[in-house]
Amino acid sequence: MNIAIDGPAGAGKSTIAKKTARELGFIYVDTGAMYRAIAVYLIDNNISPADEDAVEKSIEDISIVIKYEDGAQQVYLNEKNVTGSLRTEAVGNMASKSSALPCVRAKLLSLQRNLAKEYDVVMDGRDIGTNILPDAELKIYLTASTDVRARRRYAELIDKGESDVDLSKIERDIELRDRQDMERAIAPLRQAEDAILVDSSYMTIDQVTDTIIKLAKDRL
Ligand code: DC
Repeated sequence: MNIAIDGPAGAGKSTIAKKTARELGFIYVDTGAMYRAIAVYLIDNNISPADEDAVEKSIEDISIVIKYEDGAQQVYLNEKNVTGSLRTEAVGNMASKSSALPCVRAKLLSLQRNLAKEYDVVMDGRDIGTNILPDAELKIYLTASTDVRARRRYAELIDKGESDVDLSKIERDIELRDRQDMERAIAPLRQAEDAILVDSSYMTIDQVTDTIIKLAKDRL
């Protein structure tokens, strides 16, 4: 059984998907981390996502391998485990830009589909229900208001001990990211026709997870 969870940045997809997978005994597949690993390569090698030819050339030099260690996804970029350096704002912003390029999406398509073939997965991303796993038994479109998503991200950064955080800048970044992810030509973020909309703005993590687990059990 496969569960697809799509939605905009900061809607809580990874927290919810991870918890849902743990409770169902499924594998959690974080596809954003794969786009982020490619973004790390582009940043480290000074390659601009605006230079499509350069990205296309470099894509052959990139190897992304996914492993599961104690149930947690580890991303290897050219044999180096980069999992710990993926979740920064700079990497996320680069990933949002570079993921619009067809060569980048093509690179990750079969990797993602093969994981879903091999395991029961909860896979989160932007185009899982619409493009990667069109036959997923359960599709969720998880969203929350821009204001709530910005406040959550702000709290997360403060929690991490960062002192230089500006709520209105975070909100602007989220709006820009939504626009980039929803308006790109290839595999844009949108709710699949058969996806169930869950607005987490005024729900707790447990409420959202319980909702999804109930829906999954109905389909088992
Ligand atoms: O979910 P995330 O913030 O880790 O994703 C980072 C970026 O990667 C996101 O802005 C768009 C891109 N992405 C994508 O295009 N398709 C996916 N399935 C997952 C992520």
